[in-house]
Amino acid sequence: MRIDIITLFPELLQSPFEASIVKRAIDSKKVEVHFHQLRDYSTNKQRQVDDYPYGGGAGMVMMIEPIDRCIAELQKARTYDAIIYLTPDGQRLNQKKANQLSLFENIILLCGHYKGVDQRVRDQLITEEISIGDFVLSGGELAAAVLCDSIIRLIPGVLGDESSALSDSFQDGLLAPPIYTRPENYKGWTVPEILTSGNTPKVEAWREEMALKRTQSIRPDLLDDK
Ligand code: ADE
Repeated sequence: MRIDIITLFPELLQSPFEASIVKRAIDSKKVEVHFHQLRDYSTNKQRQVDDYPYGGGAGMVMMIEPIDRCIAELQKARTYDAIIYLTPDGQRLNQKKANQLSLFENIILLCGHYKGVDQRVRDQLITEEISIGDFVLSGGELAAAVLCDSIIRLIPGVLGDESSALSDSFQDGLLAPPIYTRPENYKGWTVPEILTSGNTPKVEAWREEMALKRTQSIRPDLLDDK
């Protein structure tokens, strides 16, 4: 998979790709991630990429031309399965969406800043708009990092233990059950006995029951979708 990220602030995006599972996926060539500085595609002497909104109002708007030039340049080299704009008024990211995107070969992520992008970018150039939650970030960069992490870990071979992605919260529409490790007793706070019983079917049944209970208590809305 190849991910091209268009941004005004690539430095905001670096470290999430430099550690842990995502770094390993890049090192083992399961995914390529490329950053593109939008200012490099400005035809303006000041490398301007934003301007005042028509009709007035506060804040600046990202102009269509540099974005169009950058996307066109990328499209000269390969075809893209999705061109995604990160925005709080997009479709909310969930596990199903991450699964779907992880099957793609090439995707572009566009990070917005200021008031956002000229509507014509959204109408003409973008194929999907994604929000990572009902809150407003200063820009799309952190959202892009979150989206990339959620996708990359699902690419086959990225997680050492293949079953580990399958047992994540949400993968089966439920929150994950509680997990424990040594010591069995810490300050009198003990591990549920069933987990040390060695009875695998009973452990599995307990985990399923706990996953359901947790979901009912914390995210009952997830059960409505089932
Ligand atoms: N840009 C600003 N806020 C965002 C959000 N919640 N999701 C995606 N992109 C954003």
